[in-house]
Amino acid sequence: MSILIKGGTVVGPTGPVAADVLVDGETIAAIYAPGRGPAEGVEVIDATGKYVIPGAVDAHTHMELPFGGTHASDTFDTGTKAAAIGGTTTIIDFAVQRYGEVVQDGLAAWHGKAQGNCHIDYAFHMIMGGIDDESLKAMDHLVADEGISSFKLFMAYPGVFYSDDGQILRAMQKARDNGAMIMVHAENGPAIDVLVKQALERGETAPVHHGLTRPQELEAEATSRAIWLASVAADCPLYIVHLSASKALEQVRNARDLGRNVFAETCPQYLYLTLEDQLGAPGFEGAKWVCSTPLRSKHETHRADLWQGLRTNDLSVVSTDHCPFCFKDQKELGLGDFSKIPNGIGSVEHRVDLLYQGVVDGKLSLARWVETIATTPARMFGLYPRKGVIAPGSDADIVLYDPNGRTRISVETHHMNMDHSAWEGWEIDGKVDTVLSRGEVISSGGEYTGRAGRGRYVARGLSDYLL
Ligand code: URP
Ligand code: ZN
Ligand code: ZN
Ligand code: ZN
Repeated sequence: MSILIKGGTVVGPTGPVAADVLVDGETIAAIYAPGRGPAEGVEVIDATGKYVIPGAVDAHTHMELPFGGTHASDTFDTGTKAAAIGGTTTIIDFAVQRYGEVVQDGLAAWHGKAQGNCHIDYAFHMIMGGIDDESLKAMDHLVADEGISSFKLFMAYPGVFYSDDGQILRAMQKARDNGAMIMVHAENGPAIDVLVKQALERGETAPVHHGLTRPQELEAEATSRAIWLASVAADCPLYIVHLSASKALEQVRNARDLGRNVFAETCPQYLYLTLEDQLGAPGFEGAKWVCSTPLRSKHETHRADLWQGLRTNDLSVVSTDHCPFCFKDQKELGLGDFSKIPNGIGSVEHRVDLLYQGVVDGKLSLARWVETIATTPARMFGLYPRKGVIAPGSDADIVLYDPNGRTRISVETHHMNMDHSAWEGWEIDGKVDTVLSRGEVISSGGEYTGRAGRGRYVARGLSDYLL
């Protein structure tokens, strides 16, 4: 039977409007003025008092990522279930080509992890572990035949994921030719390694030194370098991931003001958490918040600047960079040496709520909330209009959001496979009420009815933002 979502306020990137939404099978069939939809032959979901928003798209997750001698603790099963409960109905995870590995083998391994295990639809970017003639050829193949139209390169993590500037330039030239987006982790890895070594020699081993050895200048410098390299590559489209700091944002803003094809995302952790209050927690506690780029100082302008960047579209997307590690046995690998703490924070379940708090706090409009968590990531990465919008013909990925609800975040109640929460005890306004994925109600009123294996791989097209 068809479903009529009735009485709600549909929110899209152009703002809120009272409307009823008809779902037929897996897609959205029609949108009606209130009360004008079919009166019978439909199952009605009452959305009175709720926002009806497109299912959110998290364009940056790392399920089961191998890192620092261990693996991110969420599988595609646990991580996508948590995402679904939190109102995210599509993830774009990063498949990994390791050094020396054939790109297609890395991709096949990622399909192997995800296939049959996902609760929601999923797509992949490809992490390129170094660039050579073979991997450049593989990029063409992935774009043309595998539904992968974005490639991530690391200016950080020498010896792990790092690519040098020549390799990055070659990948950018290739992307300019085949229409792909280049994503960059912009931190000057070799310079950071010097600071890390010096800190450890001084006996500075606590988690806070992870942040102190990754100063914002080295994020801004790498961001600027990536922007210039993309310029040399005939203005290859460039997307800066997990931008954390004011000076890096300034580089992006300047490039965009010059009309450059440069985009950036930030993540909830940079909008709310700080070097002093979380990463600097007593003893080894701060390890929970070790991630790269790092949390920034509350005494500087970062958080206010990032919120402003979201409003002005210098920051286009909010993703989580979900990369959870348990404290016990995983974060603890770095006891006595912060450089051995696996990098990452888990929050795939909470992005929709955490950004809605920005609406409540007067920092974002409703339209911009939906745009940064759903519509723009879908458009940026070739999923639109199938995902990211409530429109006839689009997949019926829909969230009913209760602005009068409250969300309490805790390890006791979250669904991510982590033994702690980066947001423990936080109480925020708003609550995900009901989640539909391709027309199926998978979560409603706290009851979860989805299942592993129902999520499908989505082959992506090219970005809407190609110039
Ligand atoms: O700390 C982080 N961000 N871990 C995941 C890997 C990456 O750099 O995105
Ligand atoms: Zn293939
Ligand atoms: Zn990164
Ligand atoms: Zn990441």
